Amino acid sequence: MLLTELQIQLIQQLKDNPEIRASELLDKLGIKQQELTDILAGLEWLLGGQPASPDNSSVEISLAENILLDDKVIWEGMTSQAQDTFTNREIILSTDSTNNEIKHMPLGSLLLAEQQTGGRGRYGRSWLSPFASGIYLSVSLERDKFVQGTDGLSLAIGVLIANFLNKLGIGIGLKWPNDLLTSIDPVSKLGGILVELSDKQVVIGMGINYRQMQIQGGQDADLLPDKQIACVENLMSKELLESTDRSLAAGMLINHLADGLEVFCKKGFSAYQEEWNHLNILAGLELSVDTGAEIITGICRGVDEYGRLLLTDKQGKETNPISSGSIKL
Ligand code: BTN
Repeated sequence: MLLTELQIQLIQQLKDNPEIRASELLDKLGIKQQELTDILAGLEWLLGGQPASPDNSSVEISLAENILLDDKVIWEGMTSQAQDTFTNREIILSTDSTNNEIKHMPLGSLLLAEQQTGGRGRYGRSWLSPFASGIYLSVSLERDKFVQGTDGLSLAIGVLIANFLNKLGIGIGLKWPNDLLTSIDPVSKLGGILVELSDKQVVIGMGINYRQMQIQGGQDADLLPDKQIACVENLMSKELLESTDRSLAAGMLINHLADGLEVFCKKGFSAYQEEWNHLNILAGLELSVDTGAEIITGICRGVDEYGRLLLTDKQGKETNPISSGSIKL
């Protein structure tokens, strides 16, 4: 579920002052008792178990434990490589899209958001980003750092995220170019990557479904990126679930990302080609690719050192490598 501006303001107050009383909330938000009761009723799953209708204005309202991303846990767990790579770091409650927002921040920024009201996917699709349910992360880097160019960058990020999810005990397969799919039945999308380039800047955005999404009515359901929604929490083993929360996971991901980007900047996609091909969920299968200009059909043979898709036709002849497109099975 996406939170309204007033709900976001309320959460901000609870974040800034974990022991705030109902009466202070009324003052700070400039609302009446009944309005507060109504807002809290809609946010029960985020709150720490206090009554949703605080008729006593001295009652303390607080957030449930570990419900929001914890900046301390994330920043303090960062390796020195990650700290050097991402010199400006922020977590915000709401934005339209972290990829949009980071373009106005200094190079070397890292931005996490609790929700995105206009999360974007590839090909102009939307990326459903309900509050406190996912890891919505963008980083920006100077383009000059990519001495081998940026070909295959989004595929390499797919490998890094797959490796990170593997550490959480989740088997992942990659669907060209960079869809992260669960490797167990039913195969469903767990995350996606959106890389955007400009003259000076490389923006890498990634979305991972972490908690079971809170979807309200039909409002968000229309925007579902895929019919099958998988999430990390439902796929992790019980033991790991107990010891890992969203903040720890986000911290791990950031560290993986920093290490992997360092390698990619120096060596380019060739350093990831073999791993990508190993994770290729469609290897040996017949598929069609819509390149925008034409539909090419063939058997999937993996990717080359630039991340281009390789197919062979019915006669076993290699088609031209495909740089971009969308796979239809
Ligand atoms: C896709 O599979 O189509 C790519 C989805 C990318 C979603 C992420 S969430 C963080 C960043 N901000 C966005 O608006 N999109 C990316």
